[in-house]
Amino acid sequence: MTRDLVSAGTAKGNLSNEELVARITVLKKEMNALILAHYYTVPEVQQVADIVGDSLALARAAEKNCADVIVFAGVYFMAETAKLLNPGKLVLMPDSHAGCPLADSCPPAEFRKFKELHPEALVITYINSTAEIKALSDITCTSSNAEQIIRQIPKEQPIIFAPDKNLGGYLSRTLKREMFLWQGCCYVHDAFTEPYILQACREHPEAELIAHPECREEVLRHADFIGSTQALLQHTVSSSAESFIVATEPGILYEMKKRSPQKTFIPAPKDRENPHSLCTQMKQNTLLKLYHCMLNRSPEITVPEALQSAALKPIRRMLDMSA
Ligand code: 13P
Ligand code: SF4
Repeated sequence: MTRDLVSAGTAKGNLSNEELVARITVLKKEMNALILAHYYTVPEVQQVADIVGDSLALARAAEKNCADVIVFAGVYFMAETAKLLNPGKLVLMPDSHAGCPLADSCPPAEFRKFKELHPEALVITYINSTAEIKALSDITCTSSNAEQIIRQIPKEQPIIFAPDKNLGGYLSRTLKREMFLWQGCCYVHDAFTEPYILQACREHPEAELIAHPECREEVLRHADFIGSTQALLQHTVSSSAESFIVATEPGILYEMKKRSPQKTFIPAPKDRENPHSLCTQMKQNTLLKLYHCMLNRSPEITVPEALQSAALKPIRRMLDMSA
């Protein structure tokens, strides 16, 4: 396919998914691009990606690769992390307006004041945070490695954990240590509540309830298994259970079904009217936008120079502490 053919007919956006995939494949080779996609993106984007993973797997893939261009189908903080790890590479996002409301729930000015209240504390922040917040942090973590990282911190060392209060609460209970928690949450996971979860468990008594630690404690306390997106996926493969009520973003069901086609996956109900709690930001990454961003080499993700080394430091510490 020539460059003209690769760009023909795009203005109307009337291309089939097959045509978009063919053109993306040509551009990928031409640009020496690596396409990374989070498990919460739509199936057609996951299908065209080189690597599909959770936040940690994608940060690791962004750290070690031979590509010239990284195309990140996820949310803004993920592409920003990829850029921090690759300051010399072009990092693109299909839609740079795909932000993470959890990350945005922690404004830097207020977080500075929160830190001042606990000057002795070590600051551990979830990777779901902005570059400004990372620059104010000592160590970053994801839901996959948070426990492993905190276990390496001496018990007597006070910790601030931000921005997710549900994940922070879960870590505090599991590791039996007090932490100063920023009161943010992910609207997707926080939407699951005890009455609807218990109703789903009654309707499917044979199913295991599996939940992401961004869910509320009232949900986690009923879960048969708690883990990051990756850990939930692995559990559905290794468990002898044949059906699962999945309390996380239902985008992961695509990979769960792929790996265990004989098993049944029930998205945990948000409420009676809304059986799925979707991350609309993740779904902003459409195949058409993915194609356009590669064709136009835009929108490009950049990080202000003044923030770069301070924001990279906690990410490097995370990668070193969970190697
Ligand atoms: P993980 O990818 O670490 O499971 O985090 C879930 C999430 O909400 C990503 O934004
Ligand atoms: Fe942010 Fe929640 Fe969406 Fe993840 S699922 S990107 S934490 S809003």
